[in-house]
Amino acid sequence: MQIYIEKDYNDLSKKASKIIADFIKKNPKCVLGLATGSTPQKTYDLLGKMRKINKTSFKNIKTFNLDEYSGLSANNPQSYHFFMKQNFFDKTDIDIKNTFFPTDFAPDYKKYDEKIKKSGGINLQILGIGSNGHIGFNEPGSKFFSKTRQVKLSKNTIKDNARFFKNKKDVPTKAVTMGIGTIMSAKKIILLASGKNKSKAVFNALCKKVSTKTPASILQSHKDVIVILDKDSAENLSG
Ligand code: PGA
Repeated sequence: MQIYIEKDYNDLSKKASKIIADFIKKNPKCVLGLATGSTPQKTYDLLGKMRKINKTSFKNIKTFNLDEYSGLSANNPQSYHFFMKQNFFDKTDIDIKNTFFPTDFAPDYKKYDEKIKKSGGINLQILGIGSNGHIGFNEPGSKFFSKTRQVKLSKNTIKDNARFFKNKKDVPTKAVTMGIGTIMSAKKIILLASGKNKSKAVFNALCKKVSTKTPASILQSHKDVIVILDKDSAENLSG
């Protein structure tokens, strides 16, 4: 596991976008696993700009999103389809036909894992972490070998995500997520975390024993993980 601690969110985003752009340049037909949320937002923005600055092309990549809310249509501004289009896809030359979301495979979510496999597997998975240690929407207690499936969101996640909705009652209570087993099948993983509210989850994920109580702790057993933190999210790490 390689760990970078950057000064702040801007530097974290610069570091992440550079690593991802270099990877795409070396592997122009790669398969990316994508996360949504406020953490990777600037990374996507910078990647979009790199298309112009250093001619990074996304034309031949395929993408699989980590998760999506159940019950929101793709054109709902709170949906992850919408987020990806607005924050990333529309800023690149990606072929939208090569972008996939787990809810598009309802109700047979096994087909999402099959589709990932048929595409050759995920070469690079981008991940955020929840303040409760979740990855994707694999909440504490999720099985480490789980595959793509529909899940109930924890109270903690509903509370965290309420900031994106007008009313807390509008936050969906269910979502479809890649399983932890799906995520762990990615050949390379980049985990991003920013802000003091993530520092406990980051500490539990990186420094404590692997446990389903902190789903992200399983990343300790993956052989190619890059962790990019800002100082705030790393405040509990010593040395
Ligand atoms: P955030 O979400 O980037 O919006 O903090 C991360 C997550 O819940 O996985």
